[in-house]
Amino acid sequence: MDKATSDFRKHFAALSASVYGKPLVYFDNAATSQRPDCVIELQRYMSQEACANVHRAVHRMAMDATDLYQKGREAVAAFIGSPSVEQIIFTSGTTASINMVANCFCRAFVRKGDQIIISEAEHHSNLVPWQMACLWYGVQLKVVPVLADGSFDLEAYYAMLSKDVKMVAVTHMSNVLGVKNPLPEIIKAAHSVGAAVLVDGAQGIVHSNVDVSALDCDFYAFSGHKIYAPTGIGVLYGKKEWLEQMPPYMGGGDMVDTVSFEKTTYGPLPLKFEAGTQNISAAACFAPALNLALEAKQNDALQTSLAASEKLMTEQLDSIEGLHCPSLHNPLRRGIFSFYIDGVHPADVAQIMDKMGVAVRTGLMCAEPLIKKYTQKGMIRASLMPYNNAQEVLQFIEALKRAVKMLR
Ligand SMILES: Cc1ncc(COP(=O)(O)O)c(C=O)c1O
Repeated sequence: MDKATSDFRKHFAALSASVYGKPLVYFDNAATSQRPDCVIELQRYMSQEACANVHRAVHRMAMDATDLYQKGREAVAAFIGSPSVEQIIFTSGTTASINMVANCFCRAFVRKGDQIIISEAEHHSNLVPWQMACLWYGVQLKVVPVLADGSFDLEAYYAMLSKDVKMVAVTHMSNVLGVKNPLPEIIKAAHSVGAAVLVDGAQGIVHSNVDVSALDCDFYAFSGHKIYAPTGIGVLYGKKEWLEQMPPYMGGGDMVDTVSFEKTTYGPLPLKFEAGTQNISAAACFAPALNLALEAKQNDALQTSLAASEKLMTEQLDSIEGLHCPSLHNPLRRGIFSFYIDGVHPADVAQIMDKMGVAVRTGLMCAEPLIKKYTQKGMIRASLMPYNNAQEVLQFIEALKRAVKMLR
């Protein structure tokens, strides 16, 4: 293993584990990434030494917790190029962020007869909330198809756009295909008809350098647990003009300015959208988690090693007879390989691979319409992070071949 990768792996104690006596190969990163020691240590600190509520008290523990919580928000704002810290709203994850927009944006800006556009490659989190909003408001949901290799069909999208479209909600990068969408083109065209754009960045945040200001998207949503932070924390970035006009999602403590029985006025951004006690320690963990993510993105040797592992994976998968990976040769694919193999069930393959120390995801991957476009049984997904390496790719391929041989 090269030095850059072995040094980076040292941040993650879990990666040196054995599973059933075999070295662990963790290729389920698109579901949840492993957690580095610096994040685990901050979680411990905030559970033991700064375990207090934020914004409300003047004692040392509360001030410490508030300070660390704020640093988490500042880290997120810097990482995605947000023009201000107030535009970073903490949620429980991508799903909660998208539901918040589907509820609050539609309540304020969508009327019967309007249209919302999504794509065929959406995770259920960026499909079901819009379907629900369409039912509530009498709105039509339109779906942009993906081409056979997983690319977003820009021509079909352009043909769908009209003044009736109020929201375009698309993934930055599909959790199945790993293909990045042409966001600049999608956003520019949406804005030309007056529609807002929400980007589901759950996977894109991991595999791209995100700059929400340059992208000019109206909303960007992502989860902490896919980028080294804990579960139960996520982000909604929004343009001020929308966030200020949208009604709050939930009512409760911390989101108000003044309250009387006759009338309540709401607090400033981001508090207006953060009712109740938040996941304080997880939010604070964005600081060390994103610091490490940035370090990885800026480490050329590590990125070269990751690219070499992905190339090896592509070549190896390509050589397996009866294996179908729709986006394998798509130049816009990064990090994620989803495939199915003739004559074997993905769940059986994954169960055997687990016994060989290899962790992958199988099934419909919360993207049922997309997966069923290609196969009814579901797929196997292997997803890589910068801490993965070529040796693990070879162990994965050997396990895959053995499992398929046993099942055929
Ligand atoms: C593209 C995409 N969107 C949304 C989600 C939902 O994320 P969460 O479960 O953290 O809310 C995921 C998770 O796999 C995802 O990959």
